[in-house]
Amino acid sequence: MSKTIIISNRLPLQLKIENHKIEATPSVGGLATGMKSVHRDGNGVWIGWTGLTEEEIPADLVDDVVEATIQEQCVPVSLNQDDIDGFYYGFSNRTIWPLFHYFIEYAEFEKESWQSYKRVNEKYAEVVLDNIEEGDTVWVHDYQLMLLPALIKKERPDVQIGFFLHIPFPSYEVFRILPWREEILKGLLGSDLIGFHTYDYQRHFLSSVSRILRHEVSFNEITLKDRMITVNSFPMGIDYKKFADAAEKHDTAKNQSELQRRLDLHIDSTPDAKMILSIDRLDYSKGIANRIRAYEYFLEKYPQFKEKVRLVMLAVPSRSNVPQYQLLKKEVDELVGRINGKFASVSWTPIWYFYRSMPFENLIDLYTTCEVALLTPIRDGMNLVAKEYIATRTNKTGVLILSEMAGAAQEMSEAVIINPNNFEEIADALKLAIEMPEDEQIKRNKFLQKRLKRYNVEKWAEDFMNALYETTHKSDIVEAV
Ligand code: ADP
Ligand code: G6P
Repeated sequence: MSKTIIISNRLPLQLKIENHKIEATPSVGGLATGMKSVHRDGNGVWIGWTGLTEEEIPADLVDDVVEATIQEQCVPVSLNQDDIDGFYYGFSNRTIWPLFHYFIEYAEFEKESWQSYKRVNEKYAEVVLDNIEEGDTVWVHDYQLMLLPALIKKERPDVQIGFFLHIPFPSYEVFRILPWREEILKGLLGSDLIGFHTYDYQRHFLSSVSRILRHEVSFNEITLKDRMITVNSFPMGIDYKKFADAAEKHDTAKNQSELQRRLDLHIDSTPDAKMILSIDRLDYSKGIANRIRAYEYFLEKYPQFKEKVRLVMLAVPSRSNVPQYQLLKKEVDELVGRINGKFASVSWTPIWYFYRSMPFENLIDLYTTCEVALLTPIRDGMNLVAKEYIATRTNKTGVLILSEMAGAAQEMSEAVIINPNNFEEIADALKLAIEMPEDEQIKRNKFLQKRLKRYNVEKWAEDFMNALYETTHKSDIVEAV
């Protein structure tokens, strides 16, 4: 039976060694959480990295690593510490991530890390080629593996290859800064279908292809000598049912978590208080420092809300070997400390800050309890947290404040949309959200929920796979002509 091979840098499970035993935890991030629901229901395999380097795995645990991944229909790609330093912390997260999120001054252009990126993409290609069987379809994900489509196509021109980018594709003027821009584009053009979250990212990509590689681009097709490539936008959805069901269950659950008990205690002690939630990986693209400063400005501009609001901020540790992430951690720690010191009273702390990963149940505690969600990325390919928040509001109350720089804002116009650099606007949006009448909240959320329910992650994957299937027919037609 033919299968779909999913490939991403990280597998949906991350392995750790505890007391000389392999332990698995779910990966954090939009790609893993979204694709997991697609993978769960299919008969495919998922190829990627386990989170452990070759050096970290003792010889007697190598089989256990393979065993733990096979159980989840996954195949591990073996990476060593040099690969992680050059490919992951280097080119992927010090070059591509900042450049594609318009943090140009953070982008480093090191030849060694580029070489490592090429080498690791080749390692992935080897594992993929070992696992491809006749009739299989390949779906490559994200910015860490942009050379992979061409590496596979070269060896297996018969295989249909899809590529989806989970982060923004920057405008041509930014992309052209990259010294290896041609190689990256050529790598991507090994695909038959290339997908982006929004039409703008698609447009930027097509413009780069036509200006840098001079290929013929018409509407959403690129014509090469021997084949055509389709480019389209597929805004990624969430596993709506999973979040809505968990929220329903949460409301009737008898056994509360410790976190929920603490949240309830706070509500009981200040019945008219409102909780404002933010959840992100600790990443400079998420606008976390901006958000805290804007919250400070809000408390100054509208002092009537002191003692009445609380910002509950969950930041998940991420890429902590990259200097910019270390600096951000320091900045956020200082900001939270300063603002809590400045405004706190004996009975009130303005910010509750959690720097850790949390189990799914606790995410649901936070989503369902906080009346406002404040998501202020400076740039974000999509932002699934925004969608998850809305899906858990089963009684349809709650207000989402969302940055216009997140891909999700394009589908969520009923949210309160803000510019993350405009503190005045954020402060006013917070006031508006806190005071918004319930019927207005319900009206907005009804529209949002309807859309998210319909265009869920399954539909997204189905649309992508159907479009990929269509490309086969287009290629057949080109050949016949
Ligand atoms: P990104 O992909 O940049 O991390 P998204 O908002 O698109 O941002 O996706 C984040 C994903 O990670 C969401 O699906 C969210 O539920 C998940 N997530 C965020 N925080 C945690 C956490 N503490 N524990 C587990 N999953 C988390
Ligand atoms: C974003 C990226 C993913 C990445 C995730 C977590 O969602 O699009 O490719 O896996 O962040 O980042 P990490 O560096 O921990 O894999």
